Amino acid sequence: MRTRIIGTGSCLPETVVTNDDLSKIMDTSDEWISSRTGIRERRLVKDETTASMSIEAARRALEDAKVSAQDIDLIIVGTITGDYVTPSTACEVQAAIGADKAVAFDVNAACSGFMFALHTADAYFKAGIYKTALVLGAETLSKIMDWNDRSTCVLFGDGAGAAVLRAEETGILAYDQGSDGAKGMVLACKNRLNNNPLVQNPKDLQYTYMDGQEVYKFAVTTVPASINKVLNEAGLSVEDIDYFALHQANIRIIQSVAKRLKVSEDKFPISLDHCGNISAGSVPILLDEINKKGMLKPGMKIVLSGFGAGLTWGSAVIEW
Ligand code: UT7
Repeated sequence: MRTRIIGTGSCLPETVVTNDDLSKIMDTSDEWISSRTGIRERRLVKDETTASMSIEAARRALEDAKVSAQDIDLIIVGTITGDYVTPSTACEVQAAIGADKAVAFDVNAACSGFMFALHTADAYFKAGIYKTALVLGAETLSKIMDWNDRSTCVLFGDGAGAAVLRAEETGILAYDQGSDGAKGMVLACKNRLNNNPLVQNPKDLQYTYMDGQEVYKFAVTTVPASINKVLNEAGLSVEDIDYFALHQANIRIIQSVAKRLKVSEDKFPISLDHCGNISAGSVPILLDEINKKGMLKPGMKIVLSGFGAGLTWGSAVIEW
């Protein structure tokens, strides 16, 4: 038994914000952002929410998979920006799509959120507990950005991606995931301040802080090692892989990973140019884009890899 992706969907907010738009409200430029990151524009929410985008992405994935919401046993959403602390985004999706039989919960693994959700569903399948699942990565990162900090806010975007999974003969061939909590503070965002009468309310900002260069170093070493690990476990080499669908943080990270793996950059599809970094949303949105373009054919081998805050990382090699 393997866990197979049988349908994908995604949803981006309507409003496009270009680098030039940002340069009108802060001291930045299209030249700085695009040359350092490859990002040209991103979508930011106006009326959309993490749940509304997730629900739409889920509906599109179910349609693509030709699966009814009634058949879903499990819904997992990778997100750090749910609309509520509770209920979870997964429970909101469950209610909206009418997946009455499903168990629903969120996982917090930042940019690896979709990969961790995928692996969790795979473990449930292997244990024989569930057979059909909906996994998502969804974020409204614009609400946790400090819009006075040009070094972080220009990098991120909002959106949601979804995949329907089913226990079948083929699918995930190998998986690797890891965490390094000791380095957690290089990319961090505080939760709500404590308002209880015993606590002197600290004035910390509840926005994202990032040591970009530390995250960069972590990504360019950990990601190729994780990919090599899953390839070894699956008995495959980089030549056997049709596409490497990586978390979309920065084009320079992707180029460096391609170089370290000795693989042509052509095998690394890109969405960061028009999406920016959507954390847990990046991998499933990219996967949906290449799926809808007809780039994925049965039997193809694809590597998925996410990495980011926690620190966390997760890679999988799948047969489409
Ligand atoms: O999901 C995982 C999340 N994160 C990542 O993957 C991020 C990984 N890191 C990176 O991608 C890069 O470190 C960044 C793109 C974030 C930054 O690139 P960098 O080459 O490391 O730039 P830097 O932080 O060293 O900043 C260089 C200069 C600084 O000015 P000075 O001190 O040299 O005068 C910054 O103040 O660029 C300045 N700067 C900006 N200038 C224009 C920082 N942000 C901006 C900006 N526009 N938006």
